[in-house]
Amino acid sequence: MTAIGTSQAGNNLDPWYHHYAERAAALRASEVRALFAVASRPEVVSLAGGMPYVAALPQDLVINAMDSVMRKQGPVALQYGSGQGVPLFREQILEVMALEGIRAHADDVVVTTGSQHALELVSKLFLDPGDVVIAEGPSYVTAMVIFKSYQADVDHVPMDEHGMIPEALREHIARLKAAGRKIKFLYTIPSFHNPAGVTLSWARRLEILEIAKANQILVLEDNPYGLLYFDQKAPDAMRSIERDGVVYLGTFSKTLAPGFRVGWALAPHAIREKLVLANEAAVLSPSSFSQLVISEYLSTADWKGQINTFRGVYRERKNAMLSALMEYLPELTWTNPNGGFYVWLNLPDTLDSKAMLPRAVKELVAYTPGTAFFADGQGRQNIRLSFCYPTPDHIRLGIRRLATVIRDELELLDTFAGTGSLFPAHDGRRFGAPPPDIN
Ligand SMILES: Cc1ncc(COP(=O)(O)O)c(C=O)c1O
Repeated sequence: MTAIGTSQAGNNLDPWYHHYAERAAALRASEVRALFAVASRPEVVSLAGGMPYVAALPQDLVINAMDSVMRKQGPVALQYGSGQGVPLFREQILEVMALEGIRAHADDVVVTTGSQHALELVSKLFLDPGDVVIAEGPSYVTAMVIFKSYQADVDHVPMDEHGMIPEALREHIARLKAAGRKIKFLYTIPSFHNPAGVTLSWARRLEILEIAKANQILVLEDNPYGLLYFDQKAPDAMRSIERDGVVYLGTFSKTLAPGFRVGWALAPHAIREKLVLANEAAVLSPSSFSQLVISEYLSTADWKGQINTFRGVYRERKNAMLSALMEYLPELTWTNPNGGFYVWLNLPDTLDSKAMLPRAVKELVAYTPGTAFFADGQGRQNIRLSFCYPTPDHIRLGIRRLATVIRDELELLDTFAGTGSLFPAHDGRRFGAPPPDIN
């Protein structure tokens, strides 16, 4: 037997390197995560993360709910609970979903440790190595990390400003089927997409559900941002149209606070049973304490009013971002979200958002390069800009710094490669939006 550390079993950094399961290879620090360390330096304006602005939540609301829970039912809150979640709380979740047109039964709700955990459980139930998950291109980075950790491939269907393009979806399904691939589900973020900021139109929701049904593909609808609209509500959830073919994921992370780590899945009956078993296997039960505190908050506080407050905060920040983009980078295009946290910026084709990032950080602005949101290397000409966390003044400052970085980069390219124009006309392949109307 060879001693650990000197054997062929490992490498200099990790003696267990060759012992990991194959799926662990997909667990690499994402670009978003690596950025958090840099972006947390106070002098850097971070337009990178997706952290909600929890300071807009009055602390008293949470303190009162916690106090009341501990006084009224402390021993229950501190105990293990049911693998499916607290029954009264699941009823209250129905009221939240009703705001987006969903009618359901509390029996079909499974409380999870954030919707991230619901994504993990659904993947565990459905994905075998070599399976395919269809997702928008771009898509939510940490969902793709999970899909890849189950050794599934992600197939990106292109989007435009109305969300996933149904005709492209048809083509992708046909191509995958012709190649003998097993499509396990269609993962979509229809409202205020992360990272693209666009919303799937009502007509497309209907059409995509029809396509999924005709091809027997389960739809995994991930909806953390739906209630955070600015002026116009998003169309009702896809689950409001179709109950048997959709697993719907919700969360309190963006409408209340992510520190509770409480989300949920609403699933067709048979899938729901398996989800409960998978939940029990993974965590025994989701946090009783968090569920009871949120339940108390929902019963006693004006939670809809609080969501309105958040909507106002994010609306102001989005407007600050778009007006700064208009002022400092008028030659570029970007999406104009009507809710959520993100703007998707299109760069000139000559630039590479990933390569440019270290220079941006040197100029004290951080963003997430578009490549983080594709499983296949696309996205170099895109940047995700988050407006959720920094103040409007910081957003302006961040965009001004970003504009300097982009101009310097273009000038450098022009000097060496003679591109002939600082902002070469883009070729129309990237999805973009007309100049935004921010009023
Ligand atoms: C699209 C999407 N899904 C899921 C999550 C995870 O949320 P939670 O905090 O509920 O785990 C996020 C968080 O940013 C997200 O943007």
